[in-house]
Amino acid sequence: MTVGAKLLHDHKLLICVGSGGVGKTSVAAALGLQAAMQGRRVLVLTIDPARRLANSLGLSRFGNQAVRVDLPDEFAVAEGGQLWAMMLDPAHTIRDLIHRVSPDQATADRILNNRIFLAIADSIAGSQDYMATEKLYDVVTCGDYDLVVLDTPPVKNAMDFLDAPGRLARLTDQQIMKWFLAPYDKERIFGRFLLGTSGLLFKLLGSIFGRSFLDELSEFFQAFRSLYDGFRARSIAVIAMFRDSKTAFLVVCAPTSASIDTARFFLGELRGRGMPCAGVVANQTHPVGEIVPDAESVLGGLCRDLDGDLSSHTTQTLLARLGAADRRLRELSALETRRLVQVRRAMGGGHRFWLVPRLPGQVHDLSALHRLGRYLAPLVPPLEG
Ligand SMILES: Nc1ncnc2c1ncn2[C@@H]1O[C@H](COP(=O)(O)OP(=O)(O)O)[C@@H](O)[C@H]1O
Ligand SMILES: [Mg+2]
Repeated sequence: MTVGAKLLHDHKLLICVGSGGVGKTSVAAALGLQAAMQGRRVLVLTIDPARRLANSLGLSRFGNQAVRVDLPDEFAVAEGGQLWAMMLDPAHTIRDLIHRVSPDQATADRILNNRIFLAIADSIAGSQDYMATEKLYDVVTCGDYDLVVLDTPPVKNAMDFLDAPGRLARLTDQQIMKWFLAPYDKERIFGRFLLGTSGLLFKLLGSIFGRSFLDELSEFFQAFRSLYDGFRARSIAVIAMFRDSKTAFLVVCAPTSASIDTARFFLGELRGRGMPCAGVVANQTHPVGEIVPDAESVLGGLCRDLDGDLSSHTTQTLLARLGAADRRLRELSALETRRLVQVRRAMGGGHRFWLVPRLPGQVHDLSALHRLGRYLAPLVPPLEG
């Protein structure tokens, strides 16, 4: 079994991380396809697929709905292999989450119908990385799939995704929440036992927004507080899932300085947090062959044969331009190799390194995913020195 095949066979969860635009979504989908072809039941949980890729996976709408991807016969899918895809729907996820962590249906309803909650739900759902970790927990533990491949959202800060689990637990645990709750601890009726600064603030808010606003605020914080244990238990479970030996993070980068810096940062963070990392996928690279072709010796004969159609000046110009283009490509490739050495030096002993070239065209359909996936099977030899 190749290293890539083993990676897909031995794990239950693969998480692609890296900076925006490097190919996380493409690599996650390509890995999912490869694993399905090996006979696994796979779900690719994707965040922001390009519209054409979403269409070719059959993902025409959001809704946290898993869709079975039709795989053509020529992919020779092993028995039992299935590919499913799901597009994260943050608004749906936050509602599911409230239901799941609420002690009872009445509390869930109180929160979900509360106007304060409705106002903040959009901004909580806007935190895609947090919603992704929440949805992830459901799909990994539901038992429907042998492997889940997670594509992660574009993050402004590499820490955002790794710190996402527990964001609501931290919010409910924060001083600010206690501060808001302080006035009602002894007595829920406003205006009677309001104490200290928060009491003054509530009186002020009450005089501006009216009593009903304060009642809603009170109801929201009271109900939300009762979710704290649920949020905490979930965040602990998600972090345990990140650290599980059946989980592997894959750090995806492109051969650009910025994405390599982010990749090195992720490698360090994953190591520091005891989260298992399989290695680095260097995507969209421009590898060149070792033998440097000379335009004249490769194409000169052909050009002379066409002499009747092309003037000798045109053939000379063409050969010179092709030669220059080849030199530029080699310079780019050498620069990328020098950059990638930096990320390879930051890798640990057990890490693998995959080199994926920039493919002609975009990765927007199943056959492009198939081509991309083939580069994820072999392993580039370890760095020397
Ligand atoms: N190896 C590749 N060759 C050619 N195009 C690629 C390759 N990998 C990704 N792309 C294209 O680059 C763009 C960004 O890729 P995407 O997977 O959406 O990145 P991310 O999810 O990290 O933002 C997409 O248009 C995709 O089709
Ligand atoms: Mg993406």
